Order: sequence, then structure tokens, then C-alpha cells
Amino acid sequence: TPELSITIAGVRFPSCFMNAAGARCVTREELERLGRSRAGAIVTKSMTVEARQGNPEPRYFGFPSGSINSMGLPNLGYLAYAEMIPALRTFKKPIIASVAGLCEDDFLVIAKEINASRPDLIEVNLSCPNIPGKPQIGYDPEASERLLKRVRPLITVPMGVKLPPYFDPVHHQVMAEVIRRADVDFLSLINSVGNALVVDPDREAVVIKPKGGFGGLGGAIIKPVALANVRAFWKLLEGRVPIIGTGGVVRGIDAFEHMLCGASAVQIGTALVEEGVDVFERLERELAAVLAQKGYGSVDSCRGKLREL
Ligand code: DOR
Repeated sequence: TPELSITIAGVRFPSCFMNAAGARCVTREELERLGRSRAGAIVTKSMTVEARQGNPEPRYFGFPSGSINSMGLPNLGYLAYAEMIPALRTFKKPIIASVAGLCEDDFLVIAKEINASRPDLIEVNLSCPNIPGKPQIGYDPEASERLLKRVRPLITVPMGVKLPPYFDPVHHQVMAEVIRRADVDFLSLINSVGNALVVDPDREAVVIKPKGGFGGLGGAIIKPVALANVRAFWKLLEGRVPIIGTGGVVRGIDAFEHMLCGASAVQIGTALVEEGVDVFERLERELAAVLAQKGYGSVDSCRGKLREL
């Protein structure tokens, strides 16, 4: 049976499947459930300085081909996660602390303290689309570089960056240079496709309350956007920065596509919200069957192997 464990920035993951930041990972109970599950890592909800209730409900809506959300960063605040992380180590899998912020200085405050709690890796979220009035930092390359250069020296564990999707090769190029200059250890690609609008024609209404119904798109419907971003950064960074692919992984074959594009591992958002933590066992079984059928002995052996015509 094919090897599904992988290594990112020197950290071994027992499985290449883990939760996406935000999906069933806010409370201690949810994080412990991920710990007990087949997930290859425990990724926390993006944490802010203060605890937050998030945006008004309904703020998540699942439909057959995906989901839309405008959660608004509901989380327990960084101090609660800093206290929890040492206890989560008992699950013997990597812990990834996802760090957000409402302003640049917030990232620095959180990074310093959360780094001291010794997660295995830190993912810096530059791509939350759902805070009214706050643009996604990842769409401003200068702000991104300034922030990353300030936060980098505060982090002693491998530092990753969670980016929004880009839709133009020039934007990929500019951001790849930012990532190269900022000494980033891994990338998580992509966050939700921000500020989409899902309409319910029966009710003649939006489906989520915040921001007039606008929110981040996830799930099967965004897979081609995710694959394009994984592939673009893999090529621009010449395979030297490991990538965690996120977006549209519903079946094992979707993970395989991400890996052909260059992903080392994949994160599960919508499918985890819809299906619960049993999703990890199913995905492992399905990916193992795909790899075996194709004669690949491991995830490592198919990475980046996408053929161009
Ligand atoms: O889709 C998202 N929703 N991405 C984020 O980064 C944050 C999250 C939220 O809490 O709104």
C-alpha cells in the first residue's frame, strides 16, 4: 500500500491530509477531535489578538458543488491557543498554528507568543476575505512583504504563508518574488475565492447574512483555481518551497491532482465541514487506491509530475 506520509520543512506528517484552517478547528474539543482522527496534522483556526464571536449568522452555506462563508474570524484569541498547544502535543502529529490579525502589529504580537508555545509550524494568513473594511493583505504585495519581513525574525519554527487565489500570471510572479525574499518555508494555497455571491432563486435572496451575501467560495467548484495557483507557485519557485494545496479536495483523485501540480500535502475545508472527521480515512483509502493503480509507491513520487502538452 502506497506511502501517504510526507515531510514539509523537516517536519514529518503521518498523512498528507489535514484540515484547512477554519474547518472544525476553533474550540479545544474540535482540535482534540482532529487529534484523535486520521488527520495528518492539527491546524488551528486563524487566531486574532482578542477572542471574536465573528460575523452574524447565517455565515456558512453548503451547496452541491461547494460552499460560501463569511465567518469573520470567530476564534478564542491567541492566548487560549498558546495555552492549548502544549497539551495537543499528546496526539503525536504536527500542530500548525494559523495566525491572522486585524492590523500588521497584531501579527507580530501573536507570532511572538504563539511561537513560544512551540507549534510545529506557523501559517501566516494573509488572505481572510471576510472582515468588513479590511482588504486581503495578500492582494497588496508591498504590505505583504513588509509584514512578512517583520514577522519572520519572531518565528523560529517553519513559517508558512496562506495566500489568496491570484488570477493573473503577473500577480503570481510578483508574489513569488515576495515569498522568495521573505524566507518563507512553505505555502498554503489557496484561501477561499473571496467575495463571491451565491443566490437562492426560490427565495430570491442571498444565502449568508454578512456583507450583503458576499463571501469566500470553497469546495469542488474552486478546484481549478486552486490547482492553477499551486502549479504557478511550484514552477516560479522551482519546487524549492513546499506547498500545501487547499481547494476542492473532495475525493482522493483531487488530492492526486494537487500533487501532480506540486503539492506535498492537502488541506480539507468544505468536505470536512460537510462530512466530519471521518473524511480523512475515506480520502486516505481513495488516494492509496489511485496511487496503487497508477504504480506510484508514494505521494513523494508523483509530486510535480504534471505533463504539459
Ligand atoms: O474563507 C475564509 N473564512 N478565510 C479566512 O481566512 C477566514 C475565514 C473567516 O473566518 O471568515
